[in-house]
Amino acid sequence: MAIGIGLLGLGTVGAGVAGILASPEGRHPLVAELALRRVAVRDLSRTRPVTLDPKLLSTDPEAVVDDPAVEIVVEVMGGLEPARSLILRAIAAGKPVVTANKAVIARYGEEIAAAAAEKGVYVLIEAAVGGGIPIIEPLKQSLGGNRIQRVSGIINGTTNYILTRMAEEGAAYADVLADAQRLGYAEADPAADVEGGDAADKIAILAGLAYGGPVPRSGIATEGIDRLDARDVAYAAQLGYVVKLLAVAQRVELPAPAAAPGGTVHLDVRVHPTLLPRHHPLAGVNGVNNAILVEGDPVGQVMFFGPGAGAGPTASAVVADILNIAGIRRVGGAEAGLDPLLAASSWSRCALVDGSLTCHRNYVRFQTRDEAGVIGRIGTCFGAKGVSIQSIVQLEGKDSAAEIVVITHEVQEARFREALAAIEALGEVSMVAACLRTL
Ligand SMILES: NC(=O)c1ccc[n+]([C@@H]2O[C@H](COP(=O)([O-])OP(=O)(O)OC[C@H]3O[C@@H](n4cnc5c(N)ncnc54)[C@H](OP(=O)(O)O)[C@@H]3O)[C@@H](O)[C@H]2O)c1
Repeated sequence: MAIGIGLLGLGTVGAGVAGILASPEGRHPLVAELALRRVAVRDLSRTRPVTLDPKLLSTDPEAVVDDPAVEIVVEVMGGLEPARSLILRAIAAGKPVVTANKAVIARYGEEIAAAAAEKGVYVLIEAAVGGGIPIIEPLKQSLGGNRIQRVSGIINGTTNYILTRMAEEGAAYADVLADAQRLGYAEADPAADVEGGDAADKIAILAGLAYGGPVPRSGIATEGIDRLDARDVAYAAQLGYVVKLLAVAQRVELPAPAAAPGGTVHLDVRVHPTLLPRHHPLAGVNGVNNAILVEGDPVGQVMFFGPGAGAGPTASAVVADILNIAGIRRVGGAEAGLDPLLAASSWSRCALVDGSLTCHRNYVRFQTRDEAGVIGRIGTCFGAKGVSIQSIVQLEGKDSAAEIVVITHEVQEARFREALAAIEALGEVSMVAACLRTL
């Protein structure tokens, strides 16, 4: 007996999934046991990259979820609603769900996981982060014996494409974005990508899995690449760094008085353009590729690399999830309860730390008057706040202006900000033109 699949959405990812289901030859034999029963779309008249029996298509996604022939619901329609309600509807009907929807999972993951646990059904999300890269299942299963210290990644292909071209061509952000839109690498409305929201959704999901508890999406400090100046990409290169939009979730050990009681994991979770030393494992990840670096005890560093989006890669991850559920069905495992390593289990409480308490290195570019002694006075302001400087260089400015670039050693954010305020108050410093985190 085939296992009935209901597809919510037949766009980029949905058509990729339908394509795999329609051509099982050479794949795992379970693929041949999956049968597409119903497909929800918005527009029945749209031309699709896959040919399906028109009788399968419907503009009523609830009817697809409710259809008794549909045993596994695959949500690849995107957006928050009706996607969230349809996922909950499927769970309420006792149907397992596979979704690629990071926006829904990052915001409503806790609600969805609770509903799924109560009903004893799986909600699998491999495609929600990193497209074709297996990262969700490794975090849940293969790395389960580790104490995770840090998860950091390049998890937005559009911004990585833009940054790669800015670095290679010295091109301005706006010019590369326009070109990326023309070539189909960036959406007409690129806000979710370039402002960092998409990466924040994904790191919220990864952090929740790595540290065993939901991470409040709204508390994630997020800065995109939309205000990045090509000069800083070029200066970073001169100093031996590359600029990447990094999403980071890191365990923080707080001093006793600041630590909340009982089993809470304190996390620093953020998304921002970051200077990576040229030899860093993530520094060579270019173009639309994604990579996630997991650092754990005792495994050390493990990096996952590959295509972070696109019909084929994302469908590969969706179908892997469908096969996991189908495999459990085939051995009658559904009745045995949920496998805690496959289900979204939660075993700790995650709290985000106050960003001003976190410590990191910084790159700062000042615009100053081109006169003797400015570097010394900037150095004195940093020194007065205990900020130690790794390098300070003066670069050519225009007319009587100079540009001074500083890279600091690791310093607490609050102290760094106090030093910046003191420097901005110096008469010969006209502005802090850029400030970027540095690994
Ligand atoms: N594209 C990627 O590379 C990628 C990678 C990873 C994750 N994802 C995630 O995968 C999901 C789908 O992305 P996508 O790129 O495939 O989107 P898409 O190309 O825009 O496709 C969305 C599909 O859903 C259908 N749809 C939307 N709202 C609907 C509604 N209310 N009722 C019925 N059908 C509806 C659309 O119907 P019509 O075709 O009739 O308009 C379309 O077929 C999103 O959550 C996205 O974040 C995408």
